[in-house]
Parts: sequence; structure tokens; C-alpha cells
Amino acid sequence: MKLRHLLGIEELSPSDILAIIDRAAALRDGAKAPQVLAGQTVVSLFFEPSTRTRVSFELAAYALGAQVVVVSEENSSTSKGESLLDTVRNIDAMRPRAIIVRHRASGAAATVAGAVKASVVNAGDGQHEHPTQALLDILTLREALGPLDGKSVLIVGDILHSRVARSDLIALRKLNARCVFCGPPALAPTGLAALGAEVTHDFDAALPRADAVIMLRAQRERFSEQGLLPGDLYRERWALTEARAARMKSSAVVLHPGPANRDFEIDSSVADGARSLILRQVTNGGFVRQAVLEALA
Ligand code: NCD
Repeated sequence: MKLRHLLGIEELSPSDILAIIDRAAALRDGAKAPQVLAGQTVVSLFFEPSTRTRVSFELAAYALGAQVVVVSEENSSTSKGESLLDTVRNIDAMRPRAIIVRHRASGAAATVAGAVKASVVNAGDGQHEHPTQALLDILTLREALGPLDGKSVLIVGDILHSRVARSDLIALRKLNARCVFCGPPALAPTGLAALGAEVTHDFDAALPRADAVIMLRAQRERFSEQGLLPGDLYRERWALTEARAARMKSSAVVLHPGPANRDFEIDSSVADGARSLILRQVTNGGFVRQAVLEALA
């Protein structure tokens, strides 16, 4: 399969999604990484903090033979007031093959793609999309649950601020899975149903029906309104505690995109427990990013 950019799950067909995750699984299971980026440069432009996404994109680019240059907000001229567009036009003039973009503004990756010759991969833009996270979540879910058609995936917590929830929803719907959003009314507003999710505020009622639960981080850095997150109430009603996890289907699995607020939205014993696929997600993420960069090459 061939891609020019990867800006969102929205632009992928169901068969594109399956082709990328099947290729990622083959690479993980021993297929030799083709050196399709040998002699080329990939720029990793991360204007928001990241551990898993950044490191796995950079390792994926190296695995395909690329040289990787890392640019962050603090060490670039954006810290002197240069605009994102000027920054990327200048980087593009050095002819990199691809630019991986993480930025706090929704739509930033598409803006960059419109201004450069390099291929652009969205590594998370504001509250909009995080397509490679959804691809790695789909790969992880599919391996645990089989084909996702008719399966029920419950995404819990700070839906409002989560590009992961949006991209997961779009991918799950394309594969005919059920997607239920759950969280406090201020963070999981019923209006989100317009995106194609079911919305509930009752975690205890929804939990026993789920085949998988994806817990989200409470994104305190994106809360503009004060008092959006009453901590005690949040834990009481929307945290995946050990007691709650015991009420899940025996076959149900737990995911979290990271970074997790341990013992806030998820108990450590659950994050590290037998149902948890959190580190499997991270392993799959590296290979999904190889498969995406290969499709762009
Ligand atoms: C997420 C992100 O930055 O979108 N993390 C990730 O990429 N795995 C989720 C988050 O920050 O909570």
C-alpha cells in the first residue's frame, strides 16, 4: 500500500487499516525491515512532550535505514518567535523525506502537509487525531479479541481532550466495532454521540458488557476551565480500580495509551495485571510506525 501523508484515520479505508496492521505484525514477527529510507532523512518535530510516540517513530525510521533529526520547540527558532509554517518550510528546504509532527494545535499536521514537499505523519495534533495510536490499538485489540466486528470497546475518562479517543472511535467504527465513550459529563459530553459513539456516564453499568476497556489519561494540561476535574469524585466513579476490574468479562482486556496517572485513573495493580496489554501496545506501536513509514517511502 502507498500513502502520501498520514494525517488522520479518517482518510484510511478499512482495508488500508488492516493492511497496515498486518504488515506491522509481520515486521514484529520477524519479517526483515526493508531499507526503503536508506540515505534519506526523517525529521522528528515534536512540539509537545512525548516518550512512546517519539521514541518509537525515531526507532522505526532508523530500522528502515533513515537518518533521523530531532527538533523540539525549545531547541528550534520557534522559541524566538518563528511561526510553525516558517519553521517547516525551512526544514523542508533541506529536503527530508518525511516530517513527523506533534503539535498542540488541532489541524497542525494538515497545515504542515499543505506547505511542504516531504511526507507528513501526524503524531498527535491537539484534540484532533493521533492515527498511529489508533492503528496500534487496533492491532493490539485484534490480537486479543479476534476480528473486531461486533466487539464492544469502552473508552473511559477524559474523552473531550483526547485525540486518541477520536482516532480510536473512527477506526473502530470503520471495522464495525461498537465504541462506547464514558466519563464525567464535563469530559464526556453527550454531544460526542454525533461522532458515532454511544455516550454514557455510568462506568459501572457499561463495564461488564465491554470486551475491552481503554483508559485515558486525565489531561490536566489541557483543562482551561477551573474545577473541571473534581479528583475524589473522578476516582470514585470513573477510575479502573482493582474492585471494578474484577467485574469485567473474564476475557476482557485493558489498554491505556500512556502516560498513565497511576492510582488515579487506573490502579497500578490493574495496569500491571494479567488483563493489561499496555506494554504490548508499546511494542506494537514501534512496528505500526515502521509499517506507516514504509507505506510513505
Ligand atoms: C497520548 C497523546 O499524547 O495523545 N499519548 C500517546 O501518544 N501515547 C495520550 C495522552 O497524552 O494522554
